[in-house]
Amino acid sequence: MQHHSHTRATLGGKLSAVLVATGSSVGLGNIWRFPYVAGDNGGGAFLVIYILCVILMGLPLMIAEFSVGRASHLNAVGAYRALDRRWSFLGYNGVLAAFLILGFYFVVSGWTAEYMVHSVTGSLAQYTTAAEYESVFTNFISNPWRPILYTVLFALATHFVIALGVQKGIERSAKMLMPLLFVVLIALSIHSLLMPGGGEGLRFFFQPDFSKVTPSTVLVALGQAFFSLSIGIGTMVTYASYFKPETNLRHTALNVTILDTLVAVLAGVVIFPAVFSVGIEPSSGPSLVFITLPSIFNGMPLSMVWSTVFFLLLVVAALTSTISLHEVITAYLHEEWHMSRRAAAWTTTAATTLLGAVASLSVGVWSGWKPFGLTLFDLLDYVTANILLPVGGFFTCIFVGWKLDQQVLKDQITNNGTLKFRIYRLFILLLRYFCPLVMLMLFLDNLGVF
Ligand code: PFF
Repeated sequence: MQHHSHTRATLGGKLSAVLVATGSSVGLGNIWRFPYVAGDNGGGAFLVIYILCVILMGLPLMIAEFSVGRASHLNAVGAYRALDRRWSFLGYNGVLAAFLILGFYFVVSGWTAEYMVHSVTGSLAQYTTAAEYESVFTNFISNPWRPILYTVLFALATHFVIALGVQKGIERSAKMLMPLLFVVLIALSIHSLLMPGGGEGLRFFFQPDFSKVTPSTVLVALGQAFFSLSIGIGTMVTYASYFKPETNLRHTALNVTILDTLVAVLAGVVIFPAVFSVGIEPSSGPSLVFITLPSIFNGMPLSMVWSTVFFLLLVVAALTSTISLHEVITAYLHEEWHMSRRAAAWTTTAATTLLGAVASLSVGVWSGWKPFGLTLFDLLDYVTANILLPVGGFFTCIFVGWKLDQQVLKDQITNNGTLKFRIYRLFILLLRYFCPLVMLMLFLDNLGVF
C-alpha cells in the first residue's frame, strides 16, 4: 500500500499545507461563480444556507478527505482502493469530475487572462456604461478563436507548473500571491461600498429573504460549497497525500475553510453594490463579474493599474486551482497507469484542452447546440457542481464515517494521539448521520420523489 511513498514529494511546514489547499480552494469559484450563483438564487438567504453548508458539511468532509489522502499517500483512485478495494469508484468519480471541471474552468480562466491583457493595453478602459461592457463581453466570448487561444495558453501555463513538480511549482506559486489577493479584494470592497446606490446591493447580499428558498436552492448552495472548497472530488485527498506526518489536519481544514469563505464573501461585497449601482441584474449568470468589474474599475483613479492587478490576481487564483485539478488526473495516470509523470501531464493537458476548446465554442458559434437544454459549457458546470461533487461528498461521508477503520481516522486527525480533538464525537455525528441524510433528502427531492 505504501509502495509509492518513498519516491513521493512532501510539502513543507504547516503554512505550506494551508497555502496549497487554500490555493486550490480559492479561485474562480469564489470570485466568478459564487456571486453569480448567489445573485441567481436570491442573495441573502442563499448566503446563510451557503455558510451553513460550509460549516456543517464542507468542513467535516475536508477533514475526512485529508485523512484518506494522508493515510494512503496515493492518488485519489489508489487511495480509496488501498483502504478498501470496493470504494475505488469514489476516486474515479473524482478524476472524471476534475476532467469535466477543467473543461469549463480553463475557458473562464482564459477570459480572465484576456481581461488582464485588455487592462494592460487600456482597451478595457475606453467604455463607460454597463451595456457597453456587456456587449464587449458577448463579442469576446462568441469570437471563434480568441477565447480558445487563451484557453490553450492557460492550459499550457498549468501544464508547466505541474511539470515543475509538486513542491517547487505548486507550493511556490501559492505562497506568494494568495496574500496579495486579500489586500486587493479589501481595497476594492471599500471602493465598491462607496459607489452611489451601493447600499441596495449590500441589502440584497446580507438581508435574507427565505420566501425565495426552495430545496433546489439548498442543493445549489451545497454544490457551490463543495466546488469552492474543492471537495467531493479527490483533490484534497491527492494534496493530503503529500502532507507531512506533523501537519495538523483539522487546523489546516479550518483555516482553508475560513479563508475560502472570506474571499467569497468579500467578492460579494465587491460585486453586489456595484451591480445595483450600475444597474444590471444580479441574476445575469456567468457574465456577471465580467460586466460589473470593469464598471467598478472605471470609476477609480488609476483604473488601469487596479484592473491589471486584479485580473492578474484572478489569473493566479485560477491557476492555483487548475493546478490542483490537473494534479488529480496527472497523479492518477502516473500512479495507476504507470505512465511517466511527463506523459501523464501531457495526456491530461491535451484531453482537457480539447474539451475546453469545445466548451468555449459552445458559448459562441455553436451556441445553438444544446444537449439537455444547456450549452456544453453550462452542462459541464451543472453536472459537476450539482451532481458529481455532491454524490462524491455523499459517498465520502459513508466511506469515512462507516467503512473506514475508525482507528485509521482517529490516528490521522490526532497525529497518532499527539493532538487533542475535543469535538471528535460531533465530527463523527455530522459525518455519519447529518451530512448523508441531508444530502440524500436533497437528491431525492431534486429527483421529484417528495
Ligand atoms: N475550488 C476551486 C474554486 O473555487 O475556484 C475550483 C475547484 C478546484 C473545484 C479544485 C474542485 C477542485 F477539485
